[in-house]
Amino acid sequence: MKIRILAVLPLVTVLLISACQDDDGPTGCNCTEDDIIEAVYNPQPYELVFPERFPQPIVPEDNPMTVAGIALGRNLFFDPILSSDSTMSCATCHNPQMSFTDGQPNSEGVLGMRGRRSTMALINLAFNANGFFWDGRAASLEAQALAPVEDHTELNESWDNVMEKLRRHPEYPTMFRQAFGIERKSEMSKELAVKAIAQFERTLISYNSRFDKVAWEQQGWPTDSEQRGRDLFFVEFATNTQDHPGCSHCHGGALFTENRFFNNGISDVNGLDEFPDKGLGDITGNIYDNGKFRAPSLRNIELTAPYMHDGRFNTLEEVLGHYASGGHGTINEDPNIQPFTLTEQNKEDLIAFLKMLTDTSFVHKPEFQNPFN
Ligand code: HEC
Ligand code: HEC
Repeated sequence: MKIRILAVLPLVTVLLISACQDDDGPTGCNCTEDDIIEAVYNPQPYELVFPERFPQPIVPEDNPMTVAGIALGRNLFFDPILSSDSTMSCATCHNPQMSFTDGQPNSEGVLGMRGRRSTMALINLAFNANGFFWDGRAASLEAQALAPVEDHTELNESWDNVMEKLRRHPEYPTMFRQAFGIERKSEMSKELAVKAIAQFERTLISYNSRFDKVAWEQQGWPTDSEQRGRDLFFVEFATNTQDHPGCSHCHGGALFTENRFFNNGISDVNGLDEFPDKGLGDITGNIYDNGKFRAPSLRNIELTAPYMHDGRFNTLEEVLGHYASGGHGTINEDPNIQPFTLTEQNKEDLIAFLKMLTDTSFVHKPEFQNPFN
């Protein structure tokens, strides 16, 4: 018996020495043998599918899309492991059924504190070159995804804790290796986590609304009301401004937004200093940017009430009522905010047109649903 134990000792010593050498390795980790992730790394590239009328998607060179990267991102997006008390995920506020919004003027985070702004729809994000959030403050989807975890009004967790939980998880280490080719759990990082989330978000592409079918794919015809609404929405010039809602100046193009920033006249303030939320102005420091917000896409707008950065309007009727009133005349209000005549018929027609932008195939797409259900 004794002899056997002695014979094993040298082997144990060798193992201990190699583990110690790993300690000084390039990752600077507290490596042990079980830090190594056993899985095959064989990345399959993923091609985004989108129609020719859309602009080119923005995919950073250091974050190419792969099937495994998207799968990991989808898991992280729907997993409450990202929150401090395991009750909330990104999807709690960004519900696919509501075009990734939550139906609230502003939402509660895990601490029961409310944020100051309304949840944004996550739709055609890959095509936005002008910054994310209502005020454009995040330059990329990767940068954006860092924010909600540590935001006290959202998931209120530290990234260090999140990464520790993910390293101990039975499946995430394998998924990180399959997505990014890392060899050790200690190489799992928040930078890789947000890359995966961004990959998933880039796949959230919508182009199958009734409007797309009728206007671009010769499938069916608009109703008379939809056609009149379309004409009102897109009218470029009108001899009589009363017939010029001007929506397409700011919500135009195939995406129904060009992601530019405007003051669309919703706030009745006496001076540029007085906007309760300064929006773009807080980011640029330019007083003339106060009260400017990114004009969102109107795709799926039927599903994302309440409306505006603070969720102040509950219905599309209220939104149209605002635009028809011509705003409040603050000096940086966009010149395309002009009063127009809103008859019952105009209202009905514009709303019929806006509802043509609803894409039910997008909200029900199996690849966008909770993978844990
Ligand atoms: C408590 C609710 C809540 C949670 C949880 C949440 N978000 Fe959001 N999300 C918001 C709000 C509110 C905004 C707008 C904030 C602003 O503009 O300042 C937003 C904006 C965004 C945007 C910007 C969209 C655009 O077009 O600019 C993205 C992308 C996004 N969230 C992704 C995520 C991801 C990824 C997670 C999880 C890591 C997440 N969100 C968690 C509420 C939430
Ligand atoms: C001068 C540019 C401009 C014009 C013209 C304009 N909008 Fe907007 N729109 C914006 C901006 C900017 C926002 C976001 C403002 C905010 O949240 O403070 C917005 C927000 C909206 C929203 C709410 C979006 C959401 O996700 O909450 C709807 C709906 C909308 N506009 C519809 C229209 C319609 C319909 C017209 C034509 C009658 C129109 N807009 C004309 C710039 C414009």
